[in-house]
Amino acid sequence: MSAARFGTPLSPAALRVMLLGAGELGKEVIIALQRLGVEVVAVDRYANAPGQQVAHRAHVIDMSDAGALRALVESERPHLIVPEIEAIATDELARIEADGLAEVIPTARAAQLTMNREGIRRLAAEELGLPTSPYAFADSAQQLRAAIDSGLGYPCVVKPVMSSSGKGQSVLHGPDDVQPAWDYAMSGGRVQHGRVIVEGFVDFDYEITLLTVRAVDPASGTVQTRFCAPIGHLQVHGDYVESWQPQPMPADALRHAQDIAARVTAALGGRGIFGVELFVRGDQVWFSEVSPRPHDTGLVTLCSQRQSEFELHARAILGLPVDTALREPGASAVIYGGVDAGALVYEGVDAALAVPRADLRLFGKPQSYRRRRMGVALACGDDVDQARARAKEAASRVRPRAAD
Ligand SMILES: Nc1ncnc2c1ncn2[C@@H]1O[C@H](COP(=O)(O)OP(=O)(O)OP(=O)(O)O)[C@@H](O)[C@H]1O
Ligand SMILES: [Mg+2]
Repeated sequence: MSAARFGTPLSPAALRVMLLGAGELGKEVIIALQRLGVEVVAVDRYANAPGQQVAHRAHVIDMSDAGALRALVESERPHLIVPEIEAIATDELARIEADGLAEVIPTARAAQLTMNREGIRRLAAEELGLPTSPYAFADSAQQLRAAIDSGLGYPCVVKPVMSSSGKGQSVLHGPDDVQPAWDYAMSGGRVQHGRVIVEGFVDFDYEITLLTVRAVDPASGTVQTRFCAPIGHLQVHGDYVESWQPQPMPADALRHAQDIAARVTAALGGRGIFGVELFVRGDQVWFSEVSPRPHDTGLVTLCSQRQSEFELHARAILGLPVDTALREPGASAVIYGGVDAGALVYEGVDAALAVPRADLRLFGKPQSYRRRRMGVALACGDDVDQARARAKEAASRVRPRAAD
């Protein structure tokens, strides 16, 4: 495979990339693409999404609407389509790919398999034989109860098969929790799907995201797999609040983690970055899930790596060489909106940036919710502990409030 043909944006010779989803992760990918002179079209379901503010063109459509998606691709004629979210008409992406209209990153099949927890779990556990939590699927509260009684036991975790960021997810401690967990899953899923996965609870020491890049190796001209240093993170209500890199781990556990990540990403194929989520206890590693795109916990790489996960993704999808080296220990801490409001103002930005080695990303989202991620503080340090303390301090100094 050779690199993409680079051209001039806004001319017939442009290399065009369409982002499907233009949140804070897409915004950073777009900035990386812009720097390489790529023409970028940013699509989201609402106007002025973060990535749309830095793209050449923006469109607002319902990306789960196959007809609307097809029409937009036919009018924009991107060379590459880069999904940033899961809630997309992925069957239409497969047709677009099969028709040779555009290349889907990493592959349309990867987008199809990972938008549904059942697809990726069956691939990982049943086809590839990777270690995962024990699991079952259920289409009713009765089936859920039966699955738990016939072996999964308590505690266990229930999740809608189509959901992300912890939505509709709960931990069950006993039989009384079954009906509420089912009801919550049905209210919290992305599309009313009526199906859940129930997983045995993994009592891990820590969890990591192993960013894994499939990119063209300049020496051989073939796609090779490279790993970033493991990222540790803290989840609250299924949403990440803090991440750091590197997460120290025993050599055997790291080897297992890389082996799992290599196998699952090879099965999904294509080029680009993947966020492989893993649970670790001692030398044991469990596969949890994988995003065939940059991962939110990987925002830390904006300060800790030579090339951030967004630059790595941009390079990999364009057929360019990548460098996954860690530069220094770093951390990220999320800044929530804290209020339900429209436009916000952010006080304390100066104070936050007075923290040594700290940096900020304010995403520019037009609408705030109490638990919506509106920005992130980044910081480097001599070690991870110092970086984490700095990132948390910087985040706490930013005070969002509703604009008057
Ligand atoms: N089987 C399990 N055992 C223990 N903890 C779990 C299990 N499944 C999920 N968790 C915890 O819940 C978090 C969110 O789960 P998961 O990643 O499956 O959901 P998600 O909605 O896709 O989240 P996100 O989109 O933020 O990655 C995990 O990072 C982990 O902390
Ligand atoms: Mg997850």
